[in-house]
Amino acid sequence: MSPRFTLDPFSEKYAHRTSNMLSSEIRDLLAITARPDIISLAGGLPYTQAFDPEIIMRTVRRVLAEDHAAALQYGPTDGYAPLKHCLIEVMAVEGTPCFPEDIIITHGAQQGLDIISKIFINPGDNIITEAPSYVGALNSFLSYQPNIHTIPMDEDGMVLENLAGVLKGLAAKGERVKFIYTIPNFQNPAGITLRSERRFGLLELAHEYDCLVVEDNPYGMLRFEGTPCPTLRSLDESRVIYLGTLSKIFSAGMRIGWIAAPHPILDKLLLAKQSADLCTSTFTQMVAHSYFTTEDWRGQVKQLLEHYRGRRDAILEALEEHLSGIAEWTRPQGGLFVWATLPEFIKTSEMLAAAVDAKVAYVPGSGFFPHEGGECCMRLNFSYSDVETVHEGIKRLAKVIKRELSLARALGFKVPGLEAGSSHDEQ
Ligand SMILES: Cc1ncc(COP(=O)(O)O)c(C=O)c1O
Repeated sequence: MSPRFTLDPFSEKYAHRTSNMLSSEIRDLLAITARPDIISLAGGLPYTQAFDPEIIMRTVRRVLAEDHAAALQYGPTDGYAPLKHCLIEVMAVEGTPCFPEDIIITHGAQQGLDIISKIFINPGDNIITEAPSYVGALNSFLSYQPNIHTIPMDEDGMVLENLAGVLKGLAAKGERVKFIYTIPNFQNPAGITLRSERRFGLLELAHEYDCLVVEDNPYGMLRFEGTPCPTLRSLDESRVIYLGTLSKIFSAGMRIGWIAAPHPILDKLLLAKQSADLCTSTFTQMVAHSYFTTEDWRGQVKQLLEHYRGRRDAILEALEEHLSGIAEWTRPQGGLFVWATLPEFIKTSEMLAAAVDAKVAYVPGSGFFPHEGGECCMRLNFSYSDVETVHEGIKRLAKVIKRELSLARALGFKVPGLEAGSSHDEQ
């Protein structure tokens, strides 16, 4: 490790693993883009305004009226048992059978990712992720110092030929892979869904090379069109560690997620969780339980999907109108994100300052790769802004991109989508 200039007087004291702990580009950005004059397509925030506050108030009141002492108390590390039945009902909607004893409740799926990393990753261990992948997962993994091998995706998800190649290559060197991490539905950041046949293929490879599969499924319930695919857990309970969350269908602020896994793995995860936080918030678990057993949660998800579908349509229309022939983008059937790819010579992290100046923000693609990659890509979120704002955001972004293209053409690059003599001012 090369010594780095630092002003931190404690830098000599930190453990080696902290050198891998990077501040998320997204978090840093959110701070700037929270300014009201900026249209932020950068965040990944669910649209919590869709919830009627009266529903939440009466739910909280009900919990406190029924058993305030229990709500204010510590709870079991594996979670509030009655809530597990609700989580099983949520999983059943996607056709995933599960029993209460197969689950532990965590402080969001993010804690699940951290304790999975904690129990499986020794420094130098091999793990596999999609490229690009969720920054929060990459950061959890990296803090335990693995070798991350990345697999590219096409419009049907992880490319299995590449996955087989990596597994075979490592096996040839006598090396094993601890787990394959995948976000199979409406992936963050790419919006891509792993096609059903590939799910079988991925599990076959996991079986052949004896590695576990971590299935992170925060977006599966946010499908607004197309046929649902079977969850990996429903296809192979024996080697899949499944992560669920209420963040995208109820509340991210309540911090409730869960892990379903083979029992010996759950036992180890429980030990890791115990030392991290003793238990997930009893209060929010009881509120969630009351909400799921008393309120029309399915109706609420339906309403949320209507908002998201409209916004997804808006972003795709706006991209078509303003960036057709210049950029390419994914067409998600659910979730929160579109992934756009610009001509190679545009570095989206360098272009961000110009975008913020034009009062629009996105997340540069390179932050979603553990090594290099994604430099000309960006993640665009459509869930949080209304239809008009999404349109205006893409219009502003297109102006910035076309200005970059004009500059590139002036420097002699072959530029797609701009006629000779045209300029960014034309739209
Ligand atoms: C793929 C993925 N996994 C996990 C999480 C974390 O979810 P939670 O809010 O349950 O911690 C997110 C949040 O955006 C995500 O996109």
